[in-house]
Amino acid sequence: MSKNKLQKFAQNAARWNVIEPGKPLYETIKGCWGEHFQNDHPLVLELACGRGEYSVGLGRAFPNRNFIGIDIKGARIWKGSGIAEEESLQNVSFLRTHVLELHNFFQQDEVEEIWIVHPDPRPKKSDIRRRITNPRYLEIYKSIIKPGGMIRLKTDNDLLFQYSLEVLNERDDVVDMEFTRDLHNSDLLADHHGIKTRYEEMALEKGDNINYLKFRFTR
Ligand SMILES: C[S@@+](CC[C@H](N)C(=O)[O-])C[C@H]1O[C@@H](n2cnc3c(N)ncnc32)[C@H](O)[C@@H]1O
Repeated sequence: MSKNKLQKFAQNAARWNVIEPGKPLYETIKGCWGEHFQNDHPLVLELACGRGEYSVGLGRAFPNRNFIGIDIKGARIWKGSGIAEEESLQNVSFLRTHVLELHNFFQQDEVEEIWIVHPDPRPKKSDIRRRITNPRYLEIYKSIIKPGGMIRLKTDNDLLFQYSLEVLNERDDVVDMEFTRDLHNSDLLADHHGIKTRYEEMALEKGDNINYLKFRFTR
């Protein structure tokens, strides 16, 4: 492992706002997020967060909500957790885990809202089960989100977006779905509070369109 990565991991280990394997909280946080944040404000998740631009950006804008960026890679989480620490954002934290493990960290109905921002598109047919809107992922989201909680997906990948629309349209427990294939020329842009992630910046530079959808589950 590179020296740079080792330094990042050492900093993550010392940060209160990084919950990762090896820390006692990693085993006990389920149902106890209020103790971690020292309030009972609603929890908002950013899945596949990378550098955590949404967790940090929304955390700045909404001090009465708690934001948790989730990514499998510690070196990615390091960036957002460092910014949150520098800015003393007490309502922003990061959890290092695989999205399919979320039910180990959140109780039923513990989550108010979920953002999924430019996830890996997994274009190969053999990877369909690994797409972040595959039904087995949706069941995990449904098991932790409150009834009526909003789930939002933003992606520059048309194939993943079309797949997601089809999967969601086939279900009878999805309501209030709205979507656009051109977010930056849509009324739905206001949902994003001016936040763009690294991957979005790269897609826009190439001239790609940005897709966005939101929906709720019924119970
Ligand atoms: C394409 S990057 C996008 C990062 C960021 N959301 C952005 O827009 O810049 C995808 C991120 O998802 C993370 N990731 C991929 N599969 C994951 C999974 N199953 N669980 C958690 N994180 C995952 C990767 O480590 C990577 O940081």
